[in-house]
Amino acid sequence: MSVRLRSAHPNPAMNFLFLKYIHILCVAASFALFFIRGIWVMQSYPPAQERWVKVLPHVVDGLLILSAVGMLYMVPATSDYKGWMPIKLALIGVYAFLVLFVSRMAKTRLQRFAAWLAALLVFLFVTSIAVLHHPMGVVSLFL
Ligand code: HEM
Repeated sequence: MSVRLRSAHPNPAMNFLFLKYIHILCVAASFALFFIRGIWVMQSYPPAQERWVKVLPHVVDGLLILSAVGMLYMVPATSDYKGWMPIKLALIGVYAFLVLFVSRMAKTRLQRFAAWLAALLVFLFVTSIAVLHHPMGVVSLFL
């Protein structure tokens, strides 16, 4: 990494990597939890209503956002984030709305399923934007 990172640690790159690994771990856990809970809810599987199943995603998502804010604090304003980060954040907004739709607003099973599937696809697309550091994400590979 060629940019100067803001950090109290003698080796700032290690701090950044530490946060990035936590972030990626939370991304994977968040995706897995949303995927499995969606299936459980749609099949009316009783554990879907258990307290830990409802609380754990909030803990993971909280950690995901905290690690992201930590990374953003360390990276100077001159970084390459300007191109893709705003698109990533806007799509996370779309993802959050779809998650809300699945859990609170869907009236039929078909609506819930369609919104769940769309949310998973948006999540994967956001991941591709982050990994490729490109606003078009995986689509950029075919252009
Ligand atoms: C659905 C939510 C999110 C997903 C799926 C996601 C995904 C990812 C992934 C996979 C990486 C690692 C990229 C790599 O391999 O280099 C990453 C890095 C990063 N994410 Fe996220 N993220 C999410 C939410 C956020 C949020 C809300 C923020 C900011 C508030 C954020 C800020 C960052 C930053 C700063 C990096 C480090 C980029 C770098 O310099 O390599 N992420 N994200």
